[in-house]
Amino acid sequence: MAGANPQDRGRIALFPLPFQGHLSPMLQLADVLHGRGLAVTILHTTFNAPDAASHPEFAFIPIPDEGVADAIAAAKDGISKIFAMNDAMEASGCVRDALAAILSEEPRRPPSCLVIDTSLVAVQKAAVELGLPTIVLHTGSAACTRLFRSYAMLHEKGYLPAKEHELDRPVKELPPLRVSDLFDPSKYPNKEMANKIVHLAIETTANSAGIVINTSEALETPELEALRQELGINGTKVFAIGPLHKLSAIDSAASSLLEQDRSCIEWLDTQATGSVLYVSFGSVAPIHRDDFTEVAWGLANSGIPFLWVVRRGLVIGMEEPELPDGFELAVDGRGKVVRWAPQQEVLAHGAVGGFWTHNGWNSTLESIHEGVPMLSRPLFGDQLANGRYVQDVWKIGFLLQGKLERGRIEKAVTALMEGDLAAETRERAKELRTKAMMCLEIGGSTRRAVDELVDHILSL
Ligand code: UDX
Repeated sequence: MAGANPQDRGRIALFPLPFQGHLSPMLQLADVLHGRGLAVTILHTTFNAPDAASHPEFAFIPIPDEGVADAIAAAKDGISKIFAMNDAMEASGCVRDALAAILSEEPRRPPSCLVIDTSLVAVQKAAVELGLPTIVLHTGSAACTRLFRSYAMLHEKGYLPAKEHELDRPVKELPPLRVSDLFDPSKYPNKEMANKIVHLAIETTANSAGIVINTSEALETPELEALRQELGINGTKVFAIGPLHKLSAIDSAASSLLEQDRSCIEWLDTQATGSVLYVSFGSVAPIHRDDFTEVAWGLANSGIPFLWVVRRGLVIGMEEPELPDGFELAVDGRGKVVRWAPQQEVLAHGAVGGFWTHNGWNSTLESIHEGVPMLSRPLFGDQLANGRYVQDVWKIGFLLQGKLERGRIEKAVTALMEGDLAAETRERAKELRTKAMMCLEIGGSTRRAVDELVDHILSL
């Protein structure tokens, strides 16, 4: 879509949450809308700012920092960072001022609306104050959007706080989820914040002129139908326009906050077709040191070739993670470790036969759309439900639950990559890919949803 000539159909502004798994889909959405003739303005924080030089077709406006970056840096974890960012933006009025400037500088062609990430409540409040409608981008699945809207019910019916002996209990209102798939705020160090985080999306959705979800009818028709029924009462429109990474032409390197190590592509070129397990636990959540050691030895002992992303901050208490003594020698020639990979390209590479993932929604979508089966080890939040869908709905992989221990890892990795079960799972993954890609064809559900979204934006 980049490079298409934007006709002067109108302008849209977008404000991403400045974390990798949220920034990429927002830029991809911007690209899709730009390809449909809308001029694009990206508002952003100076913290994790997108690379303006990689997107000359967009106008970029950094909001004056006013302590926002410091507030984010001082917060300890992902959830606290989101609240710190909202509080700092609201206290300083910096977003309101930036939006007011855009509206007054472009009186002839002001943005018809502002697309925001679900958790940017402060940004929405500023827009509402200025009479600018907002549309909310949900970067997770439709199932998770429904799940997070159900937290009052989950507490009322006693599913939460989760009891140890009920982890396997089916949540009959949200099949096929089980209690173990629910993000449980009571287990989180800052329970109050964890409780509040699931409500942010409810608030922004309620005050929006529509929601855009990075999913497709091929993957989540029942969940989308249920959402439309729930939200339709208030007239909120739901647009399923995923997978954005396939719909948009933005190169993944252009939205990456970290430099991608391309040496792994050369290494994959030397490996046999379908032989390599790709291992990555996403951009945010950390793992414990003991788990890291077990993962390392589980991979080493499996004998399976692997490519493993060990990013800075992956291991709690180790800024620069160090691999266990003897590991590199044990996996010499068979295992490759990088700090950050060009993941979409890795998953599309013929040598990759499986993905051990934390099931962040972007990673899950990227794997599905390359037909790569998954070993699911969700760490946090929406990832837990995504892993359940991989195993029980799409049947394109399986969950690795319970304690991480090298013997269990070795067995799980081998089951994903070798033998009859692996072949069947791979076959289903290829079939799902074919079905999912059809949404992107002309006349497909995703293309139609984009048409409807553009009409809706132009009607605001
Ligand atoms: C979190 C949530 O878990 C996710 O569900 C939510 O919707 C976004 O934020 P995150 O840890 O960022 O997720 O994972 P994911 O959603 O999978 O996004 C990670 C992105 O980083 C993917 O687009 C992936 O391609 C990219 N990536 C990852 C790389 O480009 N290189 C790597 O080495 C690893």
